[in-house]
Amino acid sequence: MLKFCLMGWSVGVLCFAATTSVWGVQSSLVSVPPTTSDLGVLVENAESTSRKNMVASVHPLATQAGVDAFANGGNAIDAAIATALTLGVVDNFNSGIGGGCFILIRTAKGEVYAIDGREMAPSAATQDLFRDAKTRFSNPSQTGPLASGVPGALKAYAQAVAQHGRLDLRASLKKGMEAAEGGFQVTEAYAAKLRIAKKAMLQFPGAVNVFFRPDPKTGLIEPYRAGEILKQSDLAKTYRKISQEGTDWFYRGGFSELAGQWMEANGGIMTVNDFAKYKTVNRKPVRSEYRDFEIYGFPPPSSGGVHVAQVLNILEQFDLAEMYQSDRVGFYHVVAEAMKLAFADRAFWLGDPDYVDVPLGLIEKSYAKELAVKIKMDSVLTTDHNIPPNAATDFFERHTTHVAAADSEGNWVALTTTVNTTFGAKYVIPGTGVIMNNQMDDFVAFPGKPNAFGLIGGENNAVASGKRPLSSMSPTIVLRDGQPVLTVGAAGGPKIITEVLWAIINHLDLEMPIGEAIAAPRLHHQWAPKQLLLEATFDKKMAEQLTAKQHQIKRSRSMGICQGITFDTKTGIFTGAFDPRTTGSAAGE
Ligand code: GLY
Repeated sequence: MLKFCLMGWSVGVLCFAATTSVWGVQSSLVSVPPTTSDLGVLVENAESTSRKNMVASVHPLATQAGVDAFANGGNAIDAAIATALTLGVVDNFNSGIGGGCFILIRTAKGEVYAIDGREMAPSAATQDLFRDAKTRFSNPSQTGPLASGVPGALKAYAQAVAQHGRLDLRASLKKGMEAAEGGFQVTEAYAAKLRIAKKAMLQFPGAVNVFFRPDPKTGLIEPYRAGEILKQSDLAKTYRKISQEGTDWFYRGGFSELAGQWMEANGGIMTVNDFAKYKTVNRKPVRSEYRDFEIYGFPPPSSGGVHVAQVLNILEQFDLAEMYQSDRVGFYHVVAEAMKLAFADRAFWLGDPDYVDVPLGLIEKSYAKELAVKIKMDSVLTTDHNIPPNAATDFFERHTTHVAAADSEGNWVALTTTVNTTFGAKYVIPGTGVIMNNQMDDFVAFPGKPNAFGLIGGENNAVASGKRPLSSMSPTIVLRDGQPVLTVGAAGGPKIITEVLWAIINHLDLEMPIGEAIAAPRLHHQWAPKQLLLEATFDKKMAEQLTAKQHQIKRSRSMGICQGITFDTKTGIFTGAFDPRTTGSAAGE
């Protein structure tokens, strides 16, 4: 069955592990209740079912690229990469070849691979890069040339297809190239992102050339509006060049030369050599067990795999399904406290494992038991370690994107990809159409100062030459009895980790179908700031009961965007789901 669902309702207790060692490292068919979103669009179902294959993403054109890849003989890896490369055109405020990614692949042979395409800091980067920066940009870790790491997404995509796909990179680029050349209709969500980024983008003629046009009524230069057709001829040329000459054109040829020249002229430090030196890393996935399930997550420099595993280990000490029925407020309290404990560890321990030791003990069951007994049912734990007083903030912006894909041969993919915040560092390398990331902000750019996501961190995540910034991206694949049953991942900075946790808890513990598991209201705690974010849809009484347990509640309209696919081993049916909080589509044959 091929079906598209087009639109969503868019719009310490610091307990440090003692051990130190280096990381090597059922679904059913259900409708999500009809509802409306910040885009005012009614959606009745954010799920789709199929028997042969499935792909889910935030954009119908991108999902179609995956469907086409399957139709052309490709497998789930080909579908995921074609989808990602198309997202890099039609959803390029979230991701693109100027950014980075993590790809988790479970092959039909049963092997699990983690391809690290995270950005690398330029060679000239130092710990004090941002403190010492003499730049015209007021927030240099977020806007302009210093904000960018050397992009890794394209190299990781190419590697995934070459090693695990059946088609080639040329085939994966085709749909994106067509969408760039022929244009696509700007959605309200896309236009809203342009409005958010407008002021910063106006500083960069290369970005204005692509995303702005004279307003038909006033003649003023304004960003494209919803309903208009956006063509990106430079990006189409870039995709064609890569298609003809391979990724070397990007890393050792025309693109890197243009980027190097632009950096030099604009106070950047990234050079052609940095592009030439960029490498993906094959990492050992984080494997953990949760009740009857095997959980595969992405290892550092992602914090996702470690902390998804750590929180699940803590929660395993509680009968969540029973608590959900008999003590709903206790259930949410325990989940929030487990999240808080894990994020406290994240701030202290996590960083690029090629530079710092990340303790393996963080995902040990014995450590989780120690943490679980600290959770009090009637009040919150105090976690005062180094939280700056003004760290509190919430972010309505949504960033990053996730692609889920699976096929009946047993290939499963969880791919999360990003330029970091909306339209990355807000500039385009002129003549290429490529938006560059602002992933340097995921380092501790200014010690003690929260980053764009309100996160603070320690020395382990300090800037250094060639280092990869810590990430929250959490591509995850779940198996039962050796058979994959769930692939899931999300967008939304640190909320990625808690979104993935909610999808897992809701689906595995509470037995919600995946669409419902993703749509259900979420809460999020990231230790710093000291606040429990509750999605606006939580009822007032629940908020009051959590407040009575001393939680400092803040309501949030923005709880990230999650995609997932499940497989029912009894019926042989895949169910794909996109997040009804935004646009999206899940489709398969
Ligand atoms: N840039 C968001 C993340 O990687 O966590």
